[in-house]
Amino acid sequence: SKMIGILTSGGDSPGLNAAIRGVGKALLGRYGMKVIGFRDGFRGMMENRTQLLDSAALSGILTLGGTILGTSRDKPYAMPVAGKLMDMTGVIVENYRKHHLDALVCLGGGGTQKNAYHLMKQGLNVITLPKTIDNDVVLTDVSFGYDTALGIATEAVDRLHSTAHSHHRILVLELMGNKAGWLALGAGIAGGADVILIPEIPYDVKQVAAAIMRRSHSGQGFSIVAMAEGAVSREDAAKQAEGGKGKDKKKKEQKQQALERIADSKPGNSLQLARQLEELTGLESRLTILGYLQRGGTPSAGDRLLATRLGTACADLINKGEFGVMVAARGDGVKAVPLKDVVGKRKTVPLDHDWVKSARSVHTCFGD
Ligand code: F6P
Repeated sequence: SKMIGILTSGGDSPGLNAAIRGVGKALLGRYGMKVIGFRDGFRGMMENRTQLLDSAALSGILTLGGTILGTSRDKPYAMPVAGKLMDMTGVIVENYRKHHLDALVCLGGGGTQKNAYHLMKQGLNVITLPKTIDNDVVLTDVSFGYDTALGIATEAVDRLHSTAHSHHRILVLELMGNKAGWLALGAGIAGGADVILIPEIPYDVKQVAAAIMRRSHSGQGFSIVAMAEGAVSREDAAKQAEGGKGKDKKKKEQKQQALERIADSKPGNSLQLARQLEELTGLESRLTILGYLQRGGTPSAGDRLLATRLGTACADLINKGEFGVMVAARGDGVKAVPLKDVVGKRKTVPLDHDWVKSARSVHTCFGD
């Protein structure tokens, strides 16, 4: 019988186990194939660390957060080995052959799609599913993980209202989302944030302060700011555009800054924004960073449904021998889209998106 490999790669995300279960159960039960998992993404595939995914292993995992297979951000062509980045593509291809795999299923976000495409070009039968709380994978309506994270982030906005309202404070909430604003925008609208700052709309801190002061003068002594981790001020956006020429240098600097941030557990622009708002408005201002709470725990019903239907559709495509594609959600259906059309792209929030228009209509300030 046919043998299929599965791995999960990139940041963990609610719904990964539901997807593993969907793919696995359909392959086993419907098509009589065998399934093995590789541990910790492409790293485990390189190190040949596997786990049999039989029906016992696939049972009881639907509601679990994280991924039973483990994950990593390692890339086949730039794998940290003995302190150096090495191209381990050859070893990965060898292990695919060693297990006599008929296909490899890769579950992940933008980076994973790229890695899977790379392996496809080496001749492997690759098929992928879109997973990310950032919702920034192109050509799919939505990725699993987003709905759960959106729910948690919205609950955080709800709960912050208590303190904001009672203490008449400005509360800034830093949300994830990488370079896309979907999470902050969605949670900001659903939770009724007064200000929403996203990477797609560079903000002017004075505009934000003015909006907060307008609220204050009309009797609302508190404000909630939902801020995407990737949101930038107009000045920084202009600097970034200028530095675009010396891109490599900029990249190095950003990497260094990110490392320093981790070392000091310091936030990105949100701490600075909270301080500036306190200065400009004279209102007490505080910062909350939601962090990994957004990715943890049991998936929402919506994500379980999405991951299951994409997973079982993936098994159908494997059975038909359709590879080199990502299984995308489109309306009520599922569509196989060529990986080459997915890689190297990011779905950001269009400035004229319905959500943005709607938020503006309820007087949400975007800082522009
Ligand atoms: O892609 C998911 C995500 O949580 C982003 O929102 C965030 O920028 C990033 O991963 C954090 O990465 P790490 O897991 O390496 O801390």
